[in-house]
Amino acid sequence: TTGAAALPSDRPLDVALEGLRRLEYRGYDSAGVALVSPDQERVRSAKRSGKLSNLVEAIAASPLPAATAAIGHTRWATHGGPTDVNAHPHLADDGRLAVIHNGIVENFAVLRESLAADGASFLSETDTEVAAQLLAAEYRASGDLAAAMAATARRLEGTFTLLAVHADRPDTVVGARHDSPLVVGLGEGENFLGSDVAAFVAHTKEALELGQDQVVTITPTSVTVTDFDGSPAEGKRFTVDWDAAAAEKGGFASFMDKEIHDQPQAIADTLLGRSDVQGRLVLDDLRIDESVLRAVDKIIVIACGTAAYAGHVAKYAIEHWCRIPVEVELAHEFRYRDPIVDGKTLVVAVSQSGETMDTLMAVRHAREQGATVLSIVNTNGSTIPRESDAVLYTHAGPEIAVASTKAFLSQITAAYLLGLYLAQLRGNKFPDEIAVLLDELREMPRKVQTVLERSEYVRATARSMAGADKVLFLGRHVGYPVAMEGALKLKELAYIHAEGFAAGELKHGPIALIDEGQPVFVVVPSPQGRAQLHSKVVSNIQEIRARGARTLVIAEDGDDEVRRYADEIFWIPQAPSLLQPLLAVVPLQVFAMALAGAKGLDVDQPRNLAKSVTVE
Ligand code: G6P
Repeated sequence: TTGAAALPSDRPLDVALEGLRRLEYRGYDSAGVALVSPDQERVRSAKRSGKLSNLVEAIAASPLPAATAAIGHTRWATHGGPTDVNAHPHLADDGRLAVIHNGIVENFAVLRESLAADGASFLSETDTEVAAQLLAAEYRASGDLAAAMAATARRLEGTFTLLAVHADRPDTVVGARHDSPLVVGLGEGENFLGSDVAAFVAHTKEALELGQDQVVTITPTSVTVTDFDGSPAEGKRFTVDWDAAAAEKGGFASFMDKEIHDQPQAIADTLLGRSDVQGRLVLDDLRIDESVLRAVDKIIVIACGTAAYAGHVAKYAIEHWCRIPVEVELAHEFRYRDPIVDGKTLVVAVSQSGETMDTLMAVRHAREQGATVLSIVNTNGSTIPRESDAVLYTHAGPEIAVASTKAFLSQITAAYLLGLYLAQLRGNKFPDEIAVLLDELREMPRKVQTVLERSEYVRATARSMAGADKVLFLGRHVGYPVAMEGALKLKELAYIHAEGFAAGELKHGPIALIDEGQPVFVVVPSPQGRAQLHSKVVSNIQEIRARGARTLVIAEDGDDEVRRYADEIFWIPQAPSLLQPLLAVVPLQVFAMALAGAKGLDVDQPRNLAKSVTVE
């Protein structure tokens, strides 16, 4: 994150620190800032390992001078542990140049050797310091910071966003991007750069999307873009539709708590404006020819983490409604296993951030093989939609807590819309059937609200279980991905070993894990919609209970049969079977958050994780 302004003031540093606060969810191993001003011969900087608050305290204890430009960074360590020394910025050119970096420089060892042979010495173990030294050498040769940045970028392999300031150019910040994200914010008498619009949305909503392999130079009054050869290039202007306030906690104890409560709105917003008065779906934002979608004979959903579980739900719905085979695969596995895709394959990439490197690489691979790529993404101006043939935006608003909640529900909602749209286009369903399903979907925000209103009981149960050391989750049909997501939330937030299983698989192995008092969550299918499955899952509950399990059951209102076998029941409103995940996952999210809270853990920033993992 960065800001550049005309006269020396506290503003550039304030903008950079505020931007870091808003982006800290991307990585929080360490943080640092660097600033330049016409009054300073050298770059001034501060950096600290640990969370941003450590840096803020350090600056409060020894203040930095007024500046005309500042850059700042929060780190998720790749090369070199999270220490003060390895934190960014990295300085070079006798302290006159500062560089921050996201991504991985893969040829850093070779470059480091050749720089060392020329007399350079290094303070840290990072690949970033190599980029800083290289930039310093190029700048000494040409005297032109933008040209030096382009020359440096041409010599680096891997993925990177680099930003630099030099004491000779106190009004300038120069940046380069190759595969890692970078967006420009266009202000009045000041300009901004950030990995994500959240960094500057409090100051401006006018933004410029940069392409791959571009160098950008900002001053208070200008933004210049070139490619890595130095030829002029142009970014794409857009207006951010997020409100800065949407990225604030709004009275909740944590972002996660707020985002869980945002979920009814996130579903409603994702549905908004996507059907006409006759109940026909209109997906205007899909920039894709209908004939391509009609010809599709296979769908592969690719994603990572929570987004991949939304993909599992998509499979059940799309296969049922459209009779098209759907595979779901983790993006990093898909990319490296020689998957079979051709011109009739639709690859659906699901990503909240639109920046997950594993998913981006899989998107590129799919397109190289001739597939059509449609992405389901939450973040405007991000890379995955840019590189897809079509995009269906979820409208969940900014998601700050590292563990995904409202993005998950909106991804599932978007997947339903896609499934119904394909069914409409290909004539798999009668228009009135689609209209009925859409009506049911429109009921879901209200039902999620009902689940939220019942969450105090879930919280109390979670608090009483703070000592649990392993928790199992069972589900079947669309309840299976819900079980896996419930387990993931508990791992991410409460650092408890948790595992989600397909309930039918229980007797083939996992049942050996059950002993006296073992907590097991069970997601019970609707007794109306899936009577056969319902009775099978009820039998599973009896089997584990007979072996001592403590059963925590998610069941639909009115399910009297299950009542007899559950130790605890978390009731959810009735809904069509395929839509049940939108309700069933909510108590599991609340449970994981409350249990982590009871253990005194930071639910917004769990250890070792980062929200958008922009390295492979
Ligand atoms: C990281 C996050 C997860 C998230 C996954 C995919 O691992 O910690 O919460 O589900 O990335 O992120 P995406 O932005 O692609 O949805």
